Amino acid sequence: MTILTLSKLTKRYGDACVLDEVSLTVSAGERVALLGHNGAGKSTLMKLVLGLIHADGGTIELAGHAPGSAVARALTAYLPENAAFHPAITGREQLRYYLRLRGQPVKQADELLEKVGLADAAGRRIGTYSKGMRQRVGLAQALIGGPRLMVLDEPTSGLDPVSRREFYTLLDELAASGTAILLSSHALSELEARTDRMVILSKGKQVAQGTLADLRADAALPLSVSITPKAGQGERIAEAFSGAIQSEDRVTFTCPPADKLAVLERIAAQRDQIADFDVHAATLDDLYSHISKRAA
Ligand SMILES: Nc1ncnc2c1ncn2[C@@H]1O[C@H](COP(=O)(O)OP(=O)(O)OP(=O)(O)O)[C@@H](O)[C@H]1O
Ligand SMILES: [Mg+2]
Repeated sequence: MTILTLSKLTKRYGDACVLDEVSLTVSAGERVALLGHNGAGKSTLMKLVLGLIHADGGTIELAGHAPGSAVARALTAYLPENAAFHPAITGREQLRYYLRLRGQPVKQADELLEKVGLADAAGRRIGTYSKGMRQRVGLAQALIGGPRLMVLDEPTSGLDPVSRREFYTLLDELAASGTAILLSSHALSELEARTDRMVILSKGKQVAQGTLADLRADAALPLSVSITPKAGQGERIAEAFSGAIQSEDRVTFTCPPADKLAVLERIAAQRDQIADFDVHAATLDDLYSHISKRAA
């Protein structure tokens, strides 16, 4: 079931078109990542979805409702980039305040703080929290009321690697229970395994959209192959693969994705001369850099 539908969404600031006919959908249980360089339009798109600013063209629907309407607001949770809190109040007080605003029982505050790993710091002033801890207060706030759509603007910025993993586990649970998730991030490697679909924006234009496999197929970037020959076999192995480069203890070359099996067969045929080998497909970082350059 589609929760969020954007159709030809356009936003201008003066002469600058910061979103140019962007269309996308997010379904219940789906995790969609918005990628793009600084200023690509990610936060702008999110603010439009929340009804905080208005579009110059196109449409937005949240489960059939207009952005910013009372129903749409009740369905949606938002974590803004650089969420700021008053330093003098405690995490618990901040959560209670948000719970009251959303018409939810304030006794949920501790449970929410526990969920984001802040149980021990709940009674401390936010002014004493680290950056990652403040980010978690924002996350706890976004969990209030069991939203159908979560809009998270760079939710993992400031989180350490373990916390990032915990955060994505939390997102997996939410998605499994049917929450639709739209998030932005610059940390591409962590998105690879943890999102269902990616949308790449460049200067307000949508330049690619799909699963990692779709983006891979679209970019058709070569695979890199690295072979460790047995002692004294380097030259022979290098000769067996066109364009191969021999360095100290390795022979490396690239091949089009379509030739992968043929290359593996040739490696198997040379098994007596080979100690080990690795094949690397393009990472999301490679794809992103390729797609952005192509768009430019
Ligand atoms: N209120 C505004 N007035 C004028 N221009 C704006 C306004 N808000 C955003 N912009 C411009 O819109 C463009 C998109 O900004 P946006 O904040 O959406 O980028 P972003 O993709 O979120 O970037 P980042 O990765 O740095 O967070 C930028 O060029 C920005 O300067
Ligand atoms: Mg932004």
